[in-house]
Amino acid sequence: MCGIVGYIGAKQAYPILIKGLRRLEYRGYDSAGVAMISQRGALNVYKTKGKVDNLTDYCTDKDVSGSIGIAHTRWATHGEPSARNAHPHYSQSHNLAIIHNGIIENYADIKAKLQEKGVAFASDTDTEVLVQLVEYIMSNRSLTLLEAVQTALFQVIGAYAIAIIDKREPTQIIVARKQSPLVVGIGESEFFIASDASPIIDYTDKVVYLEDGNIAVIRLGEELKVMGIHGEEQELKVKKVDLNLGQIEKGGYEHFMLKEIFEQPECLTNCMRGRINVEGNQVTLSALIDHHQQLLGAKRIVIVACGTSWHAGLIGKQLIESLCRIPCEVEYASEFRYRNPVVSKDDVVIAISQSGETADTLAAIQLAKEQGAFIYGICNAIGSSIPRATDTGTYIHVGPEIGVASTKAFTGQVTVLSMLALCMANKLGTISIERYRQMVSELTCIPKKMEQALQANEEIKHLARIFTYAKNCLYLGRGYNYPVALEGALKLKEISYIHAEGYPAAEMKHGPIALIDSEMPVFVIATRDRLYEKVISNIQEVRARGGRVTALITEGDEQIKQYADHVIELPDTLECFQPLIASIPLQLLAYHIAVCKGKDVDRPRNLAKSVTVE
Ligand code: G6P
Repeated sequence: MCGIVGYIGAKQAYPILIKGLRRLEYRGYDSAGVAMISQRGALNVYKTKGKVDNLTDYCTDKDVSGSIGIAHTRWATHGEPSARNAHPHYSQSHNLAIIHNGIIENYADIKAKLQEKGVAFASDTDTEVLVQLVEYIMSNRSLTLLEAVQTALFQVIGAYAIAIIDKREPTQIIVARKQSPLVVGIGESEFFIASDASPIIDYTDKVVYLEDGNIAVIRLGEELKVMGIHGEEQELKVKKVDLNLGQIEKGGYEHFMLKEIFEQPECLTNCMRGRINVEGNQVTLSALIDHHQQLLGAKRIVIVACGTSWHAGLIGKQLIESLCRIPCEVEYASEFRYRNPVVSKDDVVIAISQSGETADTLAAIQLAKEQGAFIYGICNAIGSSIPRATDTGTYIHVGPEIGVASTKAFTGQVTVLSMLALCMANKLGTISIERYRQMVSELTCIPKKMEQALQANEEIKHLARIFTYAKNCLYLGRGYNYPVALEGALKLKEISYIHAEGYPAAEMKHGPIALIDSEMPVFVIATRDRLYEKVISNIQEVRARGGRVTALITEGDEQIKQYADHVIELPDTLECFQPLIASIPLQLLAYHIAVCKGKDVDRPRNLAKSVTVE
């Protein structure tokens, strides 16, 4: 959450910073700002409430010159979204400017102490405290900027990725990270900094991912210098970024979310490539080759995740328990980390995260590691913090996901969980070889079936108009389709701001049934599976109370057509892979309802794509 960008080199910084902010806007967009040191040595800071477009409008008549600068797009934690709380923040003398992603937890204590010494604050943020502290240390102890940053960071509790510039030293940016991501791009006599590699790839493919506790000094004309917390120099680990522009552009779609929904067949093919053999009957995951003892020896599996990734975990639990016969629990990482859970060295903890940066998931991993568990990560963002913190893992390889509401990452996560469960079950001998082959072969057919499901787009667009004015919606499903109901409801809430609840269909009669009337659209995932007849009874219960039912059915099912007001037909597949197909119409429905309501689909209010604060 919050995006940070920086540039130092021979070019004008402003256009590079703005372009970078637009790439990072998915991380937060309630305010934005830039700071540049001009040729004449002025440190100009401009910031506005709202999205990056507001900032560029504001800057049209400002002096934005300078070839060193930092910029920020914010997701508010401390202090309401406003221009005064937007970053960059000046120090009191206006010599320094800082941008920050994270939370300084002890900011109130530090602020009170600085105020006693006469320091005046211009914002309500935790971030300003840090830049004021750095300035205070510099002037009272006659330290350099680097020394003052090092000293200040020792006093700070919390998470941060920061960049700080000093107008008296216009050839230097100091950056540091702890629990918040930061990448430095190395060009020809120029450097870039960013929260992820997407703002950097237009200029260079050479990057250094800073590690927790690293401070880096970026000086023009010198090599990048990375240090540990005590100033000890670190070996420079330069990596090549494997990301292309096409992956982070809309490719003709109106929104990233729509593009990402439509790319799912291709993404899942990429996810399975090299892992399922060409005959389509054998899965191989390198993590299982390298760590088979730890993984196959698990007495219990605990899945930790947040948001949509947690929903994927609920499907993973069913796959693992039914195929591998290993007990599996799914936990919200934010709850797990604080409830003193019982974890042992015989446990395998699976951490699922699209961004690989979610603070609660990282903390849950840390806790499980300390208690001796073996940690397996399922992530999308290559080189992010979670894959680096785990013992092993599998990337979902669905490409960058920009739309804040997760779509292709969800189906990618479910695909990896399916491959993992199948691979483990085969090695453990908990399923027959015939069943294993049949299931692997069916998994390879999912991209084709997804394409078929996507053909309902126009029909769903039409249906969406009917639901645009709904105040509440209920999503029902059972078994593997229960997490699909949760995910469908979450998508609707996230982007259209309609209240929606996902419920196990049979539990409806223990509460939500009281809400049902003709004003309440009910979406039921009612594909032909073991619980089909029971779901039909649930549909009848809704109908008997005047509820309006839209059912997702297996193609050719004539029975449910008699009871439902609307149906969406889905290609048939195995029950355990149904979520991969059934989530598509629900993603499209949420998307089209939000578009009908005129909402900003890719940047829904109050949300952020990567939640790096707890
Ligand atoms: C945020 C995003 C969600 C995501 C969740 C977990 O809330 O808006 O789309 O599911 O974080 O993120 P992760 O990157 O760990 O999957």
